[in-house]
Amino acid sequence: SLRPSIYYRPINFNDLDRLEQIHRDIFPIKYESEFFERVVNGVGIVSWAAVDRSRPDGYCDELIGFVTAKFVLAKDSEIDDLIRYDSSKGEDTLIYILTLGVVETYRNHGIAMSLINEVIKYASGLSMCRGVYLHVIAHNNPAIRLYSRLMFRCVRRLNGFYLIKRQHFDAFLFVYFINGS
Ligand code: ACO
Repeated sequence: SLRPSIYYRPINFNDLDRLEQIHRDIFPIKYESEFFERVVNGVGIVSWAAVDRSRPDGYCDELIGFVTAKFVLAKDSEIDDLIRYDSSKGEDTLIYILTLGVVETYRNHGIAMSLINEVIKYASGLSMCRGVYLHVIAHNNPAIRLYSRLMFRCVRRLNGFYLIKRQHFDAFLFVYFINGS
């Protein structure tokens, strides 16, 4: 049986092809090559990779999971009304998770949970950061269970948020509040 030893590290330029391939395989939405370029170069994006160090030669550094996120000014975000501001500081930020994925053969080992925990740990260390939030399509039960288990709060249902092959789908907005929010 699978006995992976998973290691978490930043995403780098060598991950570009594999990152694109996994996104293509597991998401119904198309991401532009500019997005992947920004992820691997860390331009306005923070990211974590999961790799399996116990894999045989050549593959022990290949991506088997990832999370990508960006900073958003809290006052410019769609959850501005949910942040409890302690002063007139306008520089409070939020981290918005863009994509999270684990390749199918590595699911149900807690890898996504660890990736989200990396984001929360990082965000908690930034005093201006007031929370981590994301959108998830309303029928994605594994992801919804994951965010609920990690104590994210579902604060909104957005009608027709996603447009996939000319069909609209609702989204849930989940938030994990930190640093007194
Ligand atoms: N032994 C047994 N079960 C375990 C273990 C373990 N050691 N660790 C975790 N589990 C269970 C969890 O309890 C959970 O159970 P549940 O399904 O009953 O809730 C289940 O395994 C999954 O939890 P994780 O292992 O942490 O999650 P996983 O690594 O399987 O990844 C993810 C979940 C990311 C949703 C994956 O299914 C995926 O990539 N899906 C396709 C892409 C996707 O939907 N991404 C999220 C979209 S939203 C966004 O990107 C912002």
